Amino acid sequence: MACSTQFFLAIVLLFALTSVWAQPSPQVQKRISQAIKAAANATGDIDYTQFVNVFIGTDNDGDVCPGASIPFGMVKFTTDLTGYAPAGYITDNTQTVRGMSPLHDSGTGAGSGSYGNFEVMPLLCPGGFDTCTTSVEARERFRKNNTDDASPGYFSLTLDNGIQLEATSTRRAGLERFTFPKKSKPFLVLDLANDLPGTFAGGSMTIDPTKGRITMGGLWGSSWGPGRFNYEAFACYDLLNGGNQTLDEFGVWTADTNGLDAKGLGMTQLNFTRNLIGGVYESGALVSFQGTPETITVRVGVSFSSADQACANAESEIGDASFEDIVAQSKALWNEKLSKIELDLAHTPLNVTEMFYSSLYRAFLTPNNATDEVQGPFVGTTHHYFDSLYCSWDTFRTFYPLMALTSPVEFSQIVDSYIDAWRVHGWMPECRANHLRGWTQGGSSGDVIVGHFAMTYHDEAAALGIDLNDLYSALLADADQTPPNWDIEGREAGVYNQFGFVPASALETNSVGRQTREGSRTLEYSFEDFAIRNVALLLNKTSDFETFNNRSLNYRNVFDSSVKSDGFAGFMQKRFMNGTFTFTDPVACSPIDNVSRSCSLQDDNVVGFYESSSWEYSWFVPHDTAHLIQLMGGNDTFVKRLDHFFEKGYYYAGNEPSFQTPIGYHYANHPTQSVDRVRDVVFSNFDITPAGIPGNDDQAAMATLLAFHLLGLYPVPGSTELLVVSPFTPKYTVHNSFLNVSTTVTTQGFDARSVQQTIPKGAAAYVANVTINGARLASRCHFDFYDVFKTGGDIIIEVTADKSAVDDCGASLPMSVSTGGFSVAR
Ligand SMILES: *[C@@H]1O[C@H](CO)[C@@H](O)[C@H](O)[C@H]1NC(C)=O
Ligand SMILES: *[C@@H]1O[C@H](CO)[C@@H](O)[C@H](O)[C@H]1NC(C)=O
Ligand SMILES: *[C@@H]1O[C@H](CO)[C@@H](O)[C@H](O)[C@H]1NC(C)=O
Ligand SMILES: *[C@@H]1O[C@H](CO)[C@@H](O)[C@H](O)[C@H]1NC(C)=O
Ligand SMILES: *[C@@H]1O[C@H](CO)[C@@H](O)[C@H](O)[C@H]1NC(C)=O
Ligand SMILES: *[C@@H]1O[C@H](CO)[C@@H](O)[C@H](O)[C@H]1NC(C)=O
Ligand SMILES: *[C@@H]1O[C@H](CO)[C@@H](O)[C@H](O)[C@H]1NC(C)=O
Ligand SMILES: *[C@@H]1O[C@H](CO)[C@@H](O)[C@H](O)[C@H]1NC(C)=O
Ligand SMILES: *[C@@H]1O[C@H](CO)[C@@H](O)[C@H](O)[C@H]1NC(C)=O
Ligand SMILES: *[C@@H]1O[C@H](CO)[C@@H](O)[C@H](O)[C@H]1NC(C)=O
Ligand SMILES: *[C@@H]1O[C@H](CO)[C@@H](O)[C@H](O)[C@H]1NC(C)=O
Ligand SMILES: *[C@@H]1O[C@H](CO)[C@@H](O)[C@H](O)[C@H]1NC(C)=O
Repeated sequence: MACSTQFFLAIVLLFALTSVWAQPSPQVQKRISQAIKAAANATGDIDYTQFVNVFIGTDNDGDVCPGASIPFGMVKFTTDLTGYAPAGYITDNTQTVRGMSPLHDSGTGAGSGSYGNFEVMPLLCPGGFDTCTTSVEARERFRKNNTDDASPGYFSLTLDNGIQLEATSTRRAGLERFTFPKKSKPFLVLDLANDLPGTFAGGSMTIDPTKGRITMGGLWGSSWGPGRFNYEAFACYDLLNGGNQTLDEFGVWTADTNGLDAKGLGMTQLNFTRNLIGGVYESGALVSFQGTPETITVRVGVSFSSADQACANAESEIGDASFEDIVAQSKALWNEKLSKIELDLAHTPLNVTEMFYSSLYRAFLTPNNATDEVQGPFVGTTHHYFDSLYCSWDTFRTFYPLMALTSPVEFSQIVDSYIDAWRVHGWMPECRANHLRGWTQGGSSGDVIVGHFAMTYHDEAAALGIDLNDLYSALLADADQTPPNWDIEGREAGVYNQFGFVPASALETNSVGRQTREGSRTLEYSFEDFAIRNVALLLNKTSDFETFNNRSLNYRNVFDSSVKSDGFAGFMQKRFMNGTFTFTDPVACSPIDNVSRSCSLQDDNVVGFYESSSWEYSWFVPHDTAHLIQLMGGNDTFVKRLDHFFEKGYYYAGNEPSFQTPIGYHYANHPTQSVDRVRDVVFSNFDITPAGIPGNDDQAAMATLLAFHLLGLYPVPGSTELLVVSPFTPKYTVHNSFLNVSTTVTTQGFDARSVQQTIPKGAAAYVANVTINGARLASRCHFDFYDVFKTGGDIIIEVTADKSAVDDCGASLPMSVSTGGFSVAR
């Protein structure tokens, strides 16, 4: 999800360029650069975690969480800062820290943030217990500049009073270590109520001073969904570090922003219902330790089912293990994931290596594996459960296709969770946030995700625990059943299927939802229908195939050939039930739109598109671009229009509907222009700094887009087709341990000079020939997942500097439905 502040991006960027980085520590980049250089000549096992810069995307609204996490960890441990910090942490050193907490999401554009519950803040209270600054505002502190440090499985930050906060984690638990200045008495304030969006709706806490254990739990609200839905969360803090620390004082506190500041020394219970008037409650525990130990280590378990489960999670996942043990365990789990794609480290440009492994890291950071940690209607499920599926509109394009290359087991578990939501709710999740149903963006994009799984792993589906019949039933439910409220699941299916487009001003008599984004919803629904069409083909559902094949062409119904903009004719537009188009300026809601208006989920978004302009969304027909080219006036006009789109500034790299547009030239038989465009897009929007991604990471949508660009491939989601662009590295190997196969891609003729924004004359980068397992392909532009990634083998992508000699696809263009493409399910 792109956040609603996206159109202030330009301003933020200007600010970012002129500010001096004060976080993280400069040692972080130095360490990574040294490791990448040293790896060139390394022998033996490579520690890939060394190449990961977890701070990429922690500024410029990237909303990345750099906290300690294992792959798909439910716990992502980081500090919570003031200001715009949806993932808790941001580099901006003008903001203050109010504590460190175990639950976060990475990359989401939920403006006021997600999770951040159960904060702990270390304090120095020279005046004693009653003088401690316990309230949220009073305890905030600046950081020491240039000291934040983190790497996969480890996070550290130092406050301006010299206290260092460190964390490491397992799936559902973690250790926090606080290092105090010499000779000071350690105090910790624990927060029962506060979360990032400030949604506490009641909860309770118990201190057991003998055990040194504090349990707490409560209700909070969604970060991206209806405010009337609440989720439950629980934590269990163990304060004695296996008996090596001794509690001194303990008690409770409450506070508000108007002067309430009360403490109860020796009290052990809090129990609150929802506060119905006034602001959010502030409350929690306050403890001190005997003596002046320099370090205090606390263990925490979290759970979404009960406080007892939270304690059990800490006991089973951490037990007596030391901080260093848990860091090492986490690092090993990360290496298992990161080594799934091995770059030729000696010959890959250093920044490419860092961008690549940092992206791959984020590709395994979310969604959050909350299997066995379910609540509400999911209680009792025997299926996997993943939280933070927000939103499918963001992730179907590149996230799951990357997963298909390397990680069918993890992919199948997430697909299992999507299908289970259909069993429980009747529709698959579109935006699951904080265990709750969140706002729908484009439609039922989960269809493309589970469809992509079916197309790539149908032969292994049963072994992977997926019943294709259930998968198919879930697809049909999304496509045909109108939910009572399509704002939180499913589609506005009735009228869409009746009219062949989502009509503006539709007459709905037994379902509700926001009647906006009619143009973009039609485009997304019809692409989702393409994914269903493919699964119908796969499963020999002949009549469904015909239905969904037709529906996949519904994009045509919102194409208004009479609309002109900048001399180009034909744009997607919204349309009434009687068929009349309603004009919106195609520039509206583009990055260069100078009129202030609503472009997101607001009820006064009248442009017909979601977080995009018609200029941007009019390209979105990935399954039938051949026909789109015809509609837009032929190949030459299409290419000129693409050039104009980029040159004029309508393109927004940080927005999902724009992801495949740079490769649009392939479809007009000019693949070298896609190569030039992708180099430009990468180097003008991505780098290795905290501001190094162009928008919200959106649950690694952005990270996986960049990963595909660097690998020189681009996926057509919901299908098995891959487009060939031009790798940024001379060689890489993709391992698929479930299939027990490896695929090595060699860029023959690779010239490192081509790896920059503008490919210089004479630098080879343009694809001349593609050879798979010794056989030269007839097309330079595309191949199929089954040609090689399914069986393993070698791909040789031969590149040349002679652009004009190779500026065509050869025997075949990438596929389109209307020219006979996608006619076989492999
Ligand atoms: C790696 O080895 C090559 C020669 O084999 C040498 O030129 C280069 O300096 C070495 N690089 C590093 C980082 O040690
Ligand atoms: C951090 O550096 C900024 C300048 O970038 C300065 O204004 C601020 O006072 C410093 N903060 C601390 C805690 O030293
Ligand atoms: C507690 O201290 C003992 C003795 O120093 C040490 O062996 C043990 O590992 C410590 N326990 C923890 C949990 O740190
Ligand atoms: C908290 O109070 C409610 C009544 O408001 C009661 O039902 C509940 O059992 C109490 N919980 C605890 C943990 O004491
Ligand atoms: C690598 O990234 C850094 C930081 O963005 C940049 O200063 C440097 O120019 C980049 N190097 C190359 C070769 O692109
Ligand atoms: C999720 O957690 C479950 C339970 O521990 C585990 O079996 C599964 O492998 C995990 N999956 C991923 C993708 O982390
Ligand atoms: C679909 O039909 C083809 C050809 O008859 C057959 O090989 C394949 O097994 C069938 N697939 C399914 C899922 O029934
Ligand atoms: C699909 O579209 C074709 C051409 O418009 C039409 O003849 C056919 O009846 C449609 N099939 C279905 C199942 O809607
Ligand atoms: C179609 O419906 C719209 C909205 O009700 C109306 O403004 C328009 O005039 C109608 N067009 C025709 C041709 O009736
Ligand atoms: C807004 O953009 C239009 C078209 O680019 C331009 O003519 C107009 O002067 C701009 N208006 C403002 C207030 O910048
Ligand atoms: C675009 O070019 C391709 C390849 O030359 C050709 O097959 C196709 O018909 C052209 N499209 C149009 C609309 O002219
Ligand atoms: C592509 O490969 C063929 C067969 O090996 C070769 O004849 C041809 O020269 C190659 N094309 C280019 C542009 O390198």
